[in-house]
Amino acid sequence: MTDSAKLSLGAKETELKLRQGTIGPDVVDIAALYKDTGLFTYDPGFTSTASCESKITFIDGDEGVLLHRGYPIDQLAEKGNFLETCYLLLYGELPTANEMSDFSYRVTRHTMVHEQMSRFYTGFRRDAHPMAVMVGSVGALSAFYHDSTDIADPHQRMVASIRMIAKTPTLAAMAYKYHIGQPFVYPRNDLSYAENFLHMCFAVPCEPYQINPVLARAMDRIFTLHADHEQNASTSTVRLAGSSGANPFACIAAGIACLWGPAHGGANEAALNMLAEIGSKERIPEFIARAKDKNDPFRLMGFGHRVYKNYDPRAKIMQQTCHEVLNELGIKDDPLLEVAMELEQIALHDPYFIEKKLYPNVDFYSGITLKALGFPTEMFTVLFAVARTVGWIAQWKEMIEDPHQRIGRPRQLYTGAAQRDYAPVEARG
Ligand code: SDX
Repeated sequence: MTDSAKLSLGAKETELKLRQGTIGPDVVDIAALYKDTGLFTYDPGFTSTASCESKITFIDGDEGVLLHRGYPIDQLAEKGNFLETCYLLLYGELPTANEMSDFSYRVTRHTMVHEQMSRFYTGFRRDAHPMAVMVGSVGALSAFYHDSTDIADPHQRMVASIRMIAKTPTLAAMAYKYHIGQPFVYPRNDLSYAENFLHMCFAVPCEPYQINPVLARAMDRIFTLHADHEQNASTSTVRLAGSSGANPFACIAAGIACLWGPAHGGANEAALNMLAEIGSKERIPEFIARAKDKNDPFRLMGFGHRVYKNYDPRAKIMQQTCHEVLNELGIKDDPLLEVAMELEQIALHDPYFIEKKLYPNVDFYSGITLKALGFPTEMFTVLFAVARTVGWIAQWKEMIEDPHQRIGRPRQLYTGAAQRDYAPVEARG
């Protein structure tokens, strides 16, 4: 294995160090490239760029592999639970029974938000998109929790991490309740993370809310599937925001803003809207043709991925969970599921999708499942944000604790006007 690469520029040769990871592609260390050659690298979209070193999540896009601290996502989703995965992502190891009980106790007792937070909601229109409310309310946490914004203090970093994992479900449920005009429901310490979230979203003061264990298990698994995903767009946003020393609440709010886009976390909402627009199996060919048409901006939402050029391992578990939820609720022949399964089969055998390696991703089946659980489409990305908060926090913490960490400040290829002198308005053409 060579440990360097040579860059020849005319007569000059520059040696660039290669670095190996535990698994996955090696990297060419170009940190000194500009100093040594006066050249930048150019990689819009970062298709070939490793922005950092990390020990948290590994993805092999060709093999459809997703590991959190080395553990395969299917094992964590099927044998573990979301809060245990949160501990794993934050601390690097699966917790012992005592560690899990202590972690669960700490998270549970941070689920309430400052009572004045509820006044924020009345400032929003009822029909505001819940993601707009989440960007605002999560960012506003830094206006209340000053005792956990000093990022140089390890204790404050951990308190802020626990607070965000604990409070985003409460803020999300409040966004939903406000949206539908129902009273907020306080968290309960006797419920698990997923049970508590369903309770805060669907309980009403007029009658006891019955937790369905099958649905709570499905909700918990959906959270686990969305917990972290290497250096995706929103995680990179959180890292970049955090590299300036911004407080963790502000960084997570930046991540939520980025996740909202339909090319990223907004795809689950867009995928369900697309399935509803297709409406029936008979119309699928029309939409497949549009997806292939270079002159049509339409894309199959829930299909394709920057990294996975094989089936997204989360999509398989998501599909199983979807069937479990529909069976538990006695929903037979869901028209959206029929369209989704037919669309998947057609696309998986279509030369265009095969050649471009476009497979269903985690967002393809999540929308049908979340709709069946009772959530409106506009809440889907909010649920993604609730789950991904732990991934953002774990990645932010890893970056802050990296002794080599510096502010992120990319350069550019400038193709604008060369220097020129100011022309007075009367001299302009
Ligand atoms: C998430 O990064 C992550 O890890 C994200 C995520 C996470 O957990 O954080 O996994 C969550 O965001 C999943 C992705 C959700 N987005 C969607 O489902 C939206 C639909 N998908 C696409 O917009 C697209 O596939 C992306 C954005 C996901 C990936 O885009 P890339 O890697 O930049 O790929 P590309 O746009 O360069 O597409 C490559 C080719 C293009 O054709 P050519 O220009 O080469 O001829 O594939 C085509 C695209 O037109 N293509 C599609 C398509 N996705 C890509 N054609 C039709 N339908 C699609 N969905």
